[in-house]
Formats: sequence, C-alpha cells, structure tokens
Amino acid sequence: MLKVALQGRGDFTEWRDAARSLAAAGIAPGEIEWREKGGDKQLFWEEDVLPPQPSGKSQLTVPQAFIDLASAVICHTDPVRFTLLYTLLWRLQSDRKLLDIVSDEDVSRARLMEKSVRRDAHKMTAFVRFKEVGSGISMNGRRKFLAWFEPDHHIVVRKASFFQRRFNDMDWIILTPKGSAGWDGVKLTTSHEPCEKPDLTDDADMLWRTYYANIFNPARLKVKAMQAEMPKKYWKNLPEAELIPGLVANAESRVIEMAKRQATTPQPFHDRLQQAARSQPLPEPAPAGTLEALREQAAVCTRCPLHEKATQTVFGEGPENADIVFVGEQPGDQEDLAGRPFVGPAGKVFDQAIEAAGIDRSSLYVTNAVKHFKYEPRGKRRIHQRPNMGEVQHCRWWLKLEIDLIKPKIMVAMGATALAALTETKHRLTDIRGQAMRMPNGRLLFVTVHPSYLLRLSDERDRAEQLALFQQDMVEIQSLMRRISQNDSAA
Ligand code: URA
Repeated sequence: MLKVALQGRGDFTEWRDAARSLAAAGIAPGEIEWREKGGDKQLFWEEDVLPPQPSGKSQLTVPQAFIDLASAVICHTDPVRFTLLYTLLWRLQSDRKLLDIVSDEDVSRARLMEKSVRRDAHKMTAFVRFKEVGSGISMNGRRKFLAWFEPDHHIVVRKASFFQRRFNDMDWIILTPKGSAGWDGVKLTTSHEPCEKPDLTDDADMLWRTYYANIFNPARLKVKAMQAEMPKKYWKNLPEAELIPGLVANAESRVIEMAKRQATTPQPFHDRLQQAARSQPLPEPAPAGTLEALREQAAVCTRCPLHEKATQTVFGEGPENADIVFVGEQPGDQEDLAGRPFVGPAGKVFDQAIEAAGIDRSSLYVTNAVKHFKYEPRGKRRIHQRPNMGEVQHCRWWLKLEIDLIKPKIMVAMGATALAALTETKHRLTDIRGQAMRMPNGRLLFVTVHPSYLLRLSDERDRAEQLALFQQDMVEIQSLMRRISQNDSAA
C-alpha cells in the first residue's frame, strides 16, 4: 500500500499533481492510502515518495466536467475526498461517460460533496460582515476592512475573486480558520493557512442590529427554515444574532399589530383633495429651470391615465446639486398619501441600508421612474400594480428633466423598472447588478434590486442573503462616490 499525504486545504493543484504521477505509474486506487498532513495518524505515518511525474504531456485525459467537479470536491473537509477523486479519475480512463451516471455510488457521493461546498461558498457571500479598521482613509487613499468567517470547507481561496469583484474599491482581508484572502486594490492575496479570530466588536454592530430589527417581518417568520438554513454556526458571527430570539418571541403580536396597521384604504378626503387641487388657481410659478418649477408642472401632469386614480404626483425629493440620484419604481400606498418618495416600508429598508453604509439621505435626490401610484382597489385595500412600459415611457419625460437639471455623478437604478427607465434598453438586472456602468451621457449608472423585492422574499435565508447583498451595494455606491470626489479634488 502506497501512503500519500497532502496538505489538502482546498488546493486542487496539489492533489492533481500527485494523482497524475500515481495514475501515470499505473497505481490503482486500491493500492493507495491518502491522508491529510497533520491528521490524527500523523505520528505513526510515514508517507511514501511519489513516483516521478512523467515528462512531457500527461497521458491522462479527463472531461472538463471532472475538473469542475474535482476542484469543488477537493475543498471539502471529508478526508475521503482524495481517494474518491482518484477513483473517479481512474475509472474515467475507461468510461468517459461515467459522470453522467447519476446513480453511480462514487459519482453521487462526489456530487453531494460538491453541493455541500457550493452551498458553503454561497453562505460565505451572504454572511461575511466587513468591519472598517483604522480610522478614515489609509495611505493609498482607500478604506480598510476586516472580516471573520467560519466556513465548513476550504472555500476561502475559491471565493476570493468574488469578493475582489464585489469590493473592488476598498482594501479588505477575510480571515477564517481555513485560510484567508486579502485585496489592496492591486493584488489579491490568498493563503490556505488557518487564522486566529480577531476582535471585531465595534459600533457598526449597533447599526446593523437596528437595521435588522426594522426589516424583520414577523408575518414571514419560519423558525424551522431559519434554523435549517442559517445554522447557529453562522449566526454567532453576525451582529444581528442576539436579536433573533427576541424578535421570534414577539413575532405573533407584531403580526397582529401589522395587520391592524395595514389599512390601505384611500383616505375619505382623497377625492375632495384631488378636486380641490385641480380647481385651485396655480400659485406664483417657481423660477423656470429649477426643480421647484418642474415639481409644480408635474403636480398637474395628465400625460397618462395614472393621474386619475392617484392622490397626487409624487415628485423626486432632494438637493438640486445632489451627486447621487436614486430611482425607484413608483410611489406606493403610503407615498401616494404623503406626497413623498420612499416613506413607506420599502423606504424604511432603503433608509436603513444607506444609513448603515454611511450615506446621508439628505444629500441624495430620491425619485421614481413613474410619479403616480398605480393600483387596483381590492376591497378596502389598494394593491400595487407594476407600471407598464407605456407608463414608464410617458413618465420618462419627468425623470429626464430631473436628471438633466441635477446632473448627478451617479445614478442608481433600484429594480427593473428604474433600469428600463434609465437605459431605454433591455438589460437583465442580474447581469449588471452591483457594477457601475458608463452611460452614453457620460454618467455612471449603478444597478441594484428594489427594496420592495427584499420585503417580498418569503424565505428567511434568501431574505438575509439578499439583504446583505443590497447592503453591500450601498457600501459600494458610497465607495464609488468617495473615489469620484477624491479624483475631482485631485484634478
Ligand atoms: N417603491 C418605490 O419604487 N418608490 C417609492 O417611493 C416607494 C416604494
């Protein structure tokens, strides 16, 4: 029996080189005993020298599907992975279609391990929480962040490039007991060496907890699903974890309270308000070419039939010289009554996310693609209806005027309707989400999801993950703005 020991910390090349030598020397799977270096038998284990690698091109060939499978399975922590992969490699030499046999015991075991690794990697993208370290901007003009995460498998190196793309504008290090990754704007560094947990408690935790408590929807609480999808292992490193027992305990009474509050009946004075507004002589017009003038004109807009049922036009809000314009879909029930954008439940999610990212709402211009509430009366309630492309097209008139006047540096499209209104072309939101794109008019467009989408997700795990991504988008917008301002002041 040949004894082979590997570090085995998710390093595919290490296993591949060993496997190539062994297979080229004709050593069958049953003749090899694989171990992890530093494993429990280390004391009595003397590994054999591997046969030399054949020079020249390897005689072994495998389908790409095997490389994909093996590079995931090698990240698993089960020590059997080396033997299993070598067995598959060996069998593939005589059966090229082996991986298509889903009922094959080796194949199905490897697939299960692959699934577990992919799931762990997915969790990492959702549950890593960065903390800013040091104060302000560092020598290279960038902010520095640190995160601690405890994965099940050796996935850190595998996921490092995801974090590089996602958090390109900041310096960061992710430490885990199974390796680390770091990005300094130039170089992505990864290591398989285990790390110690750093002390990361600071004020940002408070912010995150406030945010989580506000977006927690007791009506959608599924404790079992939550426990299955977000095991305690992940919770313990999340700042919101300590809130969960309290929120769960109060969920029932909060559902009752929410139901009471959900009276979305149009106010009795709605019709009278509309009549009165129409019959009033217009006030002294605001100076032409100002946002105020636009707002006045939009208040009596009849470009499409949506004005007939809505209480009022909900125009954008914010400073005329804002650097960032956020665009939503259309006012909701509460916005329609208040006459202001993003003041209802979606607005709450939005407010919390920007605040946690350090963005001051009063510095932003916040508006919608469509300025009237489109709804369907159902009993006493007004049910939101998505505006169609014709309505978006009509209302683009106002959006364009707002943007031309404000001349923002960044436009943020929240959701597909805003994206369609801002780009006039068909992009899939998921293809371009989280990236800044240069528009033909020279402005930057950043695309993210609509906060209502987060409120609609019924699965707790999905919601936590999507929330984290939305939050990350806000952080990214903030870093983007910071970078633009630095370039402007350097110029
Ligand atoms: N959804 C939007 O798109 N805009 C709002 O103002 C409120 C909810």
